[in-house]
Amino acid sequence: MDIIQVKDKMFSPFIKSDQIEQAVQNIADQMNVELEDKNPLFIVVLNGAFMFASDLFKKITIECELSFVKLSSYVGTQTTSTVRELIGLDRVLKGRTVVVVEDIIDTGITMAHTVPLLHQLEAEDVKIATLLFKPAAFQKDFKIDYIGIKIPNDFIIGYGLDYDGQGRNLPEIYKIVE
Ligand code: IMP
Ligand code: MG
Repeated sequence: MDIIQVKDKMFSPFIKSDQIEQAVQNIADQMNVELEDKNPLFIVVLNGAFMFASDLFKKITIECELSFVKLSSYVGTQTTSTVRELIGLDRVLKGRTVVVVEDIIDTGITMAHTVPLLHQLEAEDVKIATLLFKPAAFQKDFKIDYIGIKIPNDFIIGYGLDYDGQGRNLPEIYKIVE
Protein backbone atom coordinates (compact mmCIF):
# COMPACT_ATOMS: atom_id res chain seq x y z
CA MET A 1 0.00 0.00 0.00
CA ASP A 2 1.36 3.35 -1.05
CA ILE A 3 0.10 6.89 -1.12
CA ILE A 4 -2.64 7.18 -3.73
CA GLN A 5 -4.41 10.03 -5.47
CA VAL A 6 -8.19 10.13 -5.76
CA LYS A 7 -9.39 13.11 -7.75
CA ASP A 8 -7.64 16.15 -6.25
CA LYS A 9 -6.68 14.60 -2.89
CA MET A 10 -3.89 12.37 -1.63
CA PHE A 11 -4.56 9.45 0.71
CA SER A 12 -2.17 7.31 2.74
CA PRO A 13 -2.61 3.72 3.95
CA PHE A 14 -4.47 3.65 7.26
CA ILE A 15 -6.19 0.35 8.11
CA LYS A 16 -4.95 -2.83 6.49
CA SER A 17 -6.88 -5.94 5.51
CA ASP A 18 -5.88 -8.04 8.50
CA GLN A 19 -7.05 -5.38 10.96
CA ILE A 20 -10.35 -4.94 9.09
CA GLU A 21 -10.82 -8.71 9.00
CA GLN A 22 -10.20 -8.95 12.76
CA ALA A 23 -12.70 -6.15 13.52
CA VAL A 24 -15.34 -7.80 11.31
CA GLN A 25 -14.71 -11.14 13.00
CA ASN A 26 -15.09 -9.57 16.47
CA ILE A 27 -18.45 -8.07 15.54
CA ALA A 28 -19.64 -11.36 14.03
CA ASP A 29 -18.54 -13.30 17.13
CA GLN A 30 -20.51 -10.94 19.36
CA MET A 31 -23.61 -11.07 17.15
CA ASN A 32 -23.50 -14.86 16.87
CA VAL A 33 -23.77 -15.06 20.65
CA GLU A 34 -26.01 -12.11 21.49
CA LEU A 35 -28.52 -12.48 18.64
CA GLU A 36 -28.83 -16.24 18.64
CA ASP A 37 -32.52 -17.26 18.65
CA LYS A 38 -33.59 -13.68 17.75
CA ASN A 39 -33.71 -14.27 13.97
CA PRO A 40 -32.47 -10.69 13.50
CA LEU A 41 -33.27 -8.69 10.41
CA PHE A 42 -30.08 -6.97 9.29
CA ILE A 43 -30.69 -3.74 7.41
CA VAL A 44 -27.64 -2.67 5.41
CA VAL A 45 -27.36 1.01 4.60
CA LEU A 46 -26.13 1.40 1.03
CA ASN A 47 -23.86 2.38 -0.58
CA GLY A 48 -21.05 2.63 1.95
CA ALA A 49 -21.74 -0.52 3.96
CA PHE A 50 -21.77 -2.98 1.05
CA MET A 51 -18.24 -4.33 1.52
CA PHE A 52 -18.45 -4.54 5.30
CA ALA A 53 -21.83 -6.28 5.01
CA SER A 54 -20.51 -8.79 2.51
CA ASP A 55 -17.60 -9.79 4.76
CA LEU A 56 -19.70 -9.69 7.93
CA PHE A 57 -22.50 -11.96 6.73
CA LYS A 58 -20.07 -14.65 5.63
CA LYS A 59 -19.18 -14.89 9.33
CA ILE A 60 -22.73 -14.83 10.71
CA THR A 61 -23.77 -18.37 11.54
CA ILE A 62 -27.13 -17.77 13.24
CA GLU A 63 -30.56 -17.70 11.61
CA CYS A 64 -31.10 -14.21 10.16
CA GLU A 65 -32.51 -12.17 7.28
CA LEU A 66 -30.93 -9.37 5.26
CA SER A 67 -32.38 -6.34 3.60
CA PHE A 68 -30.66 -3.44 1.87
CA VAL A 69 -31.83 0.15 1.99
CA LYS A 70 -30.81 3.54 0.75
CA LEU A 71 -31.43 6.74 2.62
CA SER A 72 -32.70 9.39 0.33
CA SER A 73 -32.43 12.94 1.52
CA TYR A 74 -34.09 15.97 0.10
CA VAL A 75 -34.44 19.51 1.28
CA GLY A 76 -38.00 20.45 2.16
CA THR A 77 -39.49 23.14 -0.03
CA GLN A 78 -40.28 25.52 2.79
CA THR A 79 -37.45 24.88 5.21
CA THR A 80 -33.81 23.99 5.04
CA SER A 81 -34.28 20.90 7.19
CA THR A 82 -33.20 17.66 5.62
CA VAL A 83 -35.79 14.91 5.47
CA ARG A 84 -34.66 11.32 5.08
CA GLU A 85 -36.62 8.38 3.81
CA LEU A 86 -35.78 4.69 3.69
CA ILE A 87 -35.91 3.28 0.18
CA GLY A 88 -36.01 -0.41 -0.64
CA LEU A 89 -37.09 -1.93 2.65
CA ASP A 90 -38.76 -5.20 1.67
CA ARG A 91 -39.49 -6.75 5.06
CA VAL A 92 -42.09 -6.19 7.76
CA LEU A 93 -40.35 -4.90 10.88
CA LYS A 94 -43.18 -5.36 13.35
CA GLY A 95 -41.96 -7.35 16.33
CA ARG A 96 -38.49 -7.93 14.85
CA THR A 97 -35.02 -7.46 16.25
CA VAL A 98 -33.52 -5.12 13.66
CA VAL A 99 -29.80 -4.48 13.31
CA VAL A 100 -28.78 -1.50 11.21
CA VAL A 101 -25.44 -2.11 9.48
CA GLU A 102 -23.43 1.03 8.72
CA ASP A 103 -19.96 1.64 7.33
CA ILE A 104 -19.18 4.58 9.58
CA ILE A 105 -20.79 6.74 12.23
CA ASP A 106 -19.40 10.23 12.17
CA THR A 107 -21.66 12.97 13.61
CA GLY A 108 -24.40 10.40 14.23
CA ILE A 109 -26.98 12.60 12.51
CA THR A 110 -27.86 9.98 9.89
CA MET A 111 -28.54 7.26 12.46
CA ALA A 112 -30.38 9.66 14.76
CA HIS A 113 -32.82 10.20 11.87
CA THR A 114 -33.00 6.56 10.84
CA VAL A 115 -33.60 4.74 14.12
CA PRO A 116 -36.94 6.51 14.86
CA LEU A 117 -38.15 5.50 11.38
CA LEU A 118 -37.52 1.87 12.29
CA HIS A 119 -39.36 2.26 15.58
CA GLN A 120 -42.29 3.84 13.68
CA LEU A 121 -42.41 0.63 11.66
CA GLU A 122 -42.85 -1.18 14.99
CA ALA A 123 -39.52 -2.94 15.22
CA GLU A 124 -39.34 -4.49 18.67
CA ASP A 125 -35.67 -3.74 19.18
CA VAL A 126 -33.29 -1.68 17.04
CA LYS A 127 -29.57 -2.27 17.35
CA ILE A 128 -26.79 -0.44 15.54
CA ALA A 129 -23.61 -1.94 14.09
CA THR A 130 -20.86 0.11 12.48
CA LEU A 131 -17.46 -0.90 11.24
CA LEU A 132 -15.96 2.52 11.96
CA PHE A 133 -16.73 5.17 14.55
CA LYS A 134 -15.32 8.68 14.98
CA PRO A 135 -15.88 9.47 18.69
CA ALA A 136 -14.52 13.02 18.36
CA ALA A 137 -17.11 13.88 15.70
CA PHE A 138 -20.09 12.21 17.40
CA GLN A 139 -22.78 14.75 18.38
CA LYS A 140 -25.51 12.42 19.59
CA ASP A 141 -25.96 10.17 22.59
CA PHE A 142 -27.56 7.00 21.24
CA LYS A 143 -25.97 3.68 22.05
CA ILE A 144 -23.95 1.94 19.34
CA ASP A 145 -24.23 -1.79 20.01
CA TYR A 146 -21.43 -3.05 17.76
CA ILE A 147 -18.34 -1.00 16.87
CA GLY A 148 -15.47 -2.39 14.79
CA ILE A 149 -12.74 0.24 14.99
CA LYS A 150 -12.68 3.69 16.60
CA ILE A 151 -10.78 6.18 14.45
CA PRO A 152 -9.70 9.82 14.71
CA ASN A 153 -11.70 12.56 13.03
CA ASP A 154 -9.95 12.29 9.65
CA PHE A 155 -11.57 11.76 6.27
CA ILE A 156 -11.10 8.21 5.01
CA ILE A 157 -11.89 6.20 1.89
CA GLY A 158 -11.87 2.58 0.81
CA TYR A 159 -13.66 -0.61 1.85
CA GLY A 160 -16.95 0.90 0.69
CA LEU A 161 -16.31 4.52 1.68
CA ASP A 162 -15.97 7.11 -1.04
CA TYR A 163 -14.61 10.51 -1.81
CA ASP A 164 -17.04 12.11 -4.26
CA GLY A 165 -18.05 8.70 -5.60
CA GLN A 166 -14.53 7.31 -5.94
CA GLY A 167 -12.51 4.89 -3.84
CA ARG A 168 -15.28 2.53 -2.70
CA ASN A 169 -13.61 -0.42 -4.40
CA LEU A 170 -10.32 -0.12 -2.52
CA PRO A 171 -9.95 -3.26 -0.37
CA GLU A 172 -8.20 -1.40 2.45
CA ILE A 173 -8.82 1.93 4.20
CA TYR A 174 -6.90 5.11 3.40
CA LYS A 175 -6.74 8.40 5.26
CA ILE A 176 -6.56 11.84 3.67
CA VAL A 177 -3.14 13.50 3.66
CA GLU A 178 -3.60 17.01 5.06
P1 IMP B 1 -23.01 10.94 10.04
O1 IMP B 1 -24.47 11.21 9.75
O2 IMP B 1 -22.25 12.21 10.25
O3 IMP B 1 -22.81 9.97 11.17
O4 IMP B 1 -22.34 10.38 8.74
C1 IMP B 1 -22.70 9.23 8.18
C2 IMP B 1 -22.30 9.13 6.73
O5 IMP B 1 -21.35 10.10 6.30
C3 IMP B 1 -21.62 7.81 6.52
O6 IMP B 1 -22.54 6.77 6.32
C4 IMP B 1 -20.75 8.08 5.32
O7 IMP B 1 -21.52 7.90 4.15
C5 IMP B 1 -20.37 9.52 5.45
N1 IMP B 1 -19.01 9.68 6.04
C6 IMP B 1 -18.70 10.07 7.29
N2 IMP B 1 -17.37 10.10 7.48
C7 IMP B 1 -16.82 9.71 6.30
C8 IMP B 1 -15.44 9.52 5.86
O8 IMP B 1 -14.45 9.73 6.58
N3 IMP B 1 -15.27 9.10 4.58
C9 IMP B 1 -16.33 8.86 3.73
N4 IMP B 1 -17.61 9.01 4.11
C10 IMP B 1 -17.86 9.43 5.38
MG1 MG C 1 -23.03 4.91 5.43
